[in-house]
Amino acid sequence: MSNWKPDSWKNRPVIQVPSYPDQKALEAAESELAHYPPLVFAGEARNLKSQLAEVAEGRAFLLQGGDCAESFREFHPDNIRDTFRVLLQMAVVLTFAASCPVVKVGRLAGQFAKPRSSDTETVDGVELPSYRGDIINGMAFTPEARIPDPQRMIKAYNQSAATLNLLRAFAQGGYANLLSVHRWNLDFVEKSGTGEKYKALADRIGESLAFMEACGVNAGDTRALQGTDFYTSHEALLLGYEQALTRVDSTSGEWYDTSAHMLWVGDRTRQTDGAHLEFLSGISNPIASKVGPTTDPDDLIRLIDLLNPKNEPGRLTLISRFGADKVEDYLPTLLRRVKQEGRSVVWSCDPMHGNTVKAAGGLKTRPFDQVLREVKQVFACHKAEGTYAGGIHLELTGQDVTECTGGSSAVTEDSLSSRYHTHCDPRLNATQSIELAFLLAESLKEERDAMAAPASV
Ligand code: PEP
Ligand code: CO
Repeated sequence: MSNWKPDSWKNRPVIQVPSYPDQKALEAAESELAHYPPLVFAGEARNLKSQLAEVAEGRAFLLQGGDCAESFREFHPDNIRDTFRVLLQMAVVLTFAASCPVVKVGRLAGQFAKPRSSDTETVDGVELPSYRGDIINGMAFTPEARIPDPQRMIKAYNQSAATLNLLRAFAQGGYANLLSVHRWNLDFVEKSGTGEKYKALADRIGESLAFMEACGVNAGDTRALQGTDFYTSHEALLLGYEQALTRVDSTSGEWYDTSAHMLWVGDRTRQTDGAHLEFLSGISNPIASKVGPTTDPDDLIRLIDLLNPKNEPGRLTLISRFGADKVEDYLPTLLRRVKQEGRSVVWSCDPMHGNTVKAAGGLKTRPFDQVLREVKQVFACHKAEGTYAGGIHLELTGQDVTECTGGSSAVTEDSLSSRYHTHCDPRLNATQSIELAFLLAESLKEERDAMAAPASV
């Protein structure tokens, strides 16, 4: 590790990064970024790592979610507020159900770059470079828009800084107080048309809050009720950008990627000899890797060796994303192997990326039932293997979009196009997200109860 430098990745094969036509302009933008202030502090990343260590030990749960791809066009305080609010609402339901802390991490304030299955896209016989996220090129299907533009990194940095600033204010400035979040959940139960289904749980949360209040524990003088810790994360895909924001922490002398608290490597770029793992191996942030149907168990152990050689709890999260039809065939082998090898990881579940289908009208969608089915199966696999299902990773928005089908708001394939705004993959809308949390609450409670029960003899 001692020879590692933020640019060591340049000695490895790299995929899924753009080729910029103007190298001088690229170097100018990257060196400008290298002088910009860090977006997060190393100490915050360490706090997140220690909270994730609690998850690894089965004493907390990770909730990670936000846009598939943030965009310049959807940048608006209301969008940030609404996504933040949905995550908090979900977290309260999950905290209550599991009686354990929920670590909240947004796919926010930096989630711009996207891996693509093909370098080009063809529409009506015209072939252009693929859209790779607003930090790289434009979504419009024109030759000009699709040229990678390094100035977009500067714009993405500024948008991330402003987003983070608002998130910090929301998290600590009073907006996130527990009573308000509970009131939003009551509102959801009332307006979502789900009737009695979720009312019992919401009522129990209300009773607990009233009990605490009666005991003199209230938001007026209890910090934990007034605000919350909230962290940011994104896929570390555009390595030039990540490198420019990687700095030595003066307290520990270690390298931190200050573009977000947590960074992950995607399913397409997790090759053990590749540039992306080389980059992640040298930063001290908590990191994650997606794990999919093409993950070989031996390779997974090699990946763990590379990314977490000291077997530090909280350092590495594995995010499984198999699809509801495949998870039972693949996940148990990996859970068993990691357990046998004694590796400490957080196992999280992304029920989105293995369940993407094309609707009749051609739009990409994800059926809510399949998303829920994958999560339930993941819980069942962990239970059978004696491992801990420690988290969930979702693509969601606080907006009332129609991108995933199903749920109590009953988005149908026909209605998808009415409010389909995503810049990449389909997201759960606010109602679908909160509903998922209520539905998950039961599985989580069962998991916690099983862990608390004395071992049978
Ligand atoms: C994503 O999280 O948006 C993504 C591209 O996922 P994956 O790498 O799992 O395909
Ligand atoms: Co996605």
